[in-house]
Amino acid sequence: MQIDVRKCDTVFVLFGAGGDLAKRLIVPALYNLYLDRHLPEHFRLIGVDRDGFDDTRLAEYYRESVTAFSRRGAPAESEWRSFAACIRYLQADATQGECYRNLAETLKGQGKELGEPAQHIFYLATPPFLFAPIAKGLTAAGLSHDRARIVVEKPLGRDLDSFCEINHALGEGFAETQIYRIDHFLGKETVQNILALRFANPIYEPIWNRRYIDHVAITVAETLGVEHRGGYYERAGALRDMVQNHLMQLLCLVAMEPPVAYDADDIRGKKMDVLRALRHIPRDAVPEFAARGQYGRGWIGGREVPAYREEEDVAADSNTETYAALKLYVDNWRWQGVPFYLRTGKRLGAQVSEISIRFQDVPHKAFPASVGLNAQPARLVIQIQPEEGIVLKFMAKEPGSLLRLRPVDMRFSYREAFKTDSPQAYETLLWDAMIGDATLFMRADQVKAAWQLLMPVLEVWEENPAPDFPNYASGSWGPEAAEVLVARDGISWLTPTLSGNGTRN
Ligand code: BG6
Repeated sequence: MQIDVRKCDTVFVLFGAGGDLAKRLIVPALYNLYLDRHLPEHFRLIGVDRDGFDDTRLAEYYRESVTAFSRRGAPAESEWRSFAACIRYLQADATQGECYRNLAETLKGQGKELGEPAQHIFYLATPPFLFAPIAKGLTAAGLSHDRARIVVEKPLGRDLDSFCEINHALGEGFAETQIYRIDHFLGKETVQNILALRFANPIYEPIWNRRYIDHVAITVAETLGVEHRGGYYERAGALRDMVQNHLMQLLCLVAMEPPVAYDADDIRGKKMDVLRALRHIPRDAVPEFAARGQYGRGWIGGREVPAYREEEDVAADSNTETYAALKLYVDNWRWQGVPFYLRTGKRLGAQVSEISIRFQDVPHKAFPASVGLNAQPARLVIQIQPEEGIVLKFMAKEPGSLLRLRPVDMRFSYREAFKTDSPQAYETLLWDAMIGDATLFMRADQVKAAWQLLMPVLEVWEENPAPDFPNYASGSWGPEAAEVLVARDGISWLTPTLSGNGTRN
């Protein structure tokens, strides 16, 4: 049940208070919620870590974070001062029981200051190996009560077994309705808009199926490399880091059946139906359904960049994939036979995420071939970032007395239509966690199903190191193996729709 968060006294306990995630995303998002008057009137932020800040120093550290990372830039003095008054610090080691006894005392103290009953949000912005100890510690200290919620970040495990272990630890004290598993893609405005596009407009539903759609291609491409996250990435790779969560969630939103109501369980149930319908990939068919790559040296934005194997904390003979592509089928009535192609990679030709829905070709070509030499089947492109919008690509007649056809674009742009800044994904998600709306969070069964689907690919890739790594140059569009994956079906990956001028680059 959603609550009026302004009236609900809230203590937000941030484990990993001095870490990167807290600094770059969580605290700037909380501050923006504060500026938009979305935070509870009585709010406390308790930062927990081992670093040895105090209240004042933590507030100062967060002020620098907000200045550097908030979409609104440096905070105004008076606004910041009143937000900073909510910040408290607790120095504690999350692997020790004492941490939770002290936390329980601190919360009791805050309860008296704020007035009971306050809700407690425990946000685990920590490395994943701390998820289970923290969940257990909170439970043992009696902090998993019914006014508490626990928020965890991906990666939730590195395979099916480790996910189940984490989940078991979370579930010992917290009910499923109290567990909020973040996939920050779901907080993006353009991702939420997929449901609006599909289910608030009657025109798409009749054609949203195997009779009209030829295939769906989902691209999440980054120009960044692994930056300073080599240590983490070496154990993750593109499949775990991006496909298991973000890309699978995008697929679910495109493929799901209409919900009865915009309600967390209904929507998540409909997504779960998609995950259940995904065709199992047998181990011996992995090369037919999946392709991997690792970036070599190359050029990005006029700058020469190193190969993955030359990055900090990366092994010189690393077998970790920085690119993954999959072909999936959703075996149900609506999607039988329609391939869903997913690809993601680092150090690719552009920073762009989009979903391309390619419609069937016309059943009969009435126009002579010469009038539409560059004829293309219609496509609906859902632009997730950096362009935020929707583009319908279709054939039109060129002006003039000669009959000539060419592809054109019809565009919807968020920026132009709404003339307002979108909140960042974390603002939406933190607000939802505070009001108790789990619609945009992943339910345990979804995460488990995604791991189950990917396990054969992960295992086969781990057991058989790629002989050709690095196999794509930084700044290119990925390895040849990914081209082969789709070429077998007679298609090619299209370079994403990058600019606002209607050209396909
Ligand atoms: C994270 C991944 O979940 O998503 C990163 O761990 C990736 O490797 C990031 O760079 C991409 O998110 P966004 O919002 O910047 O597209």
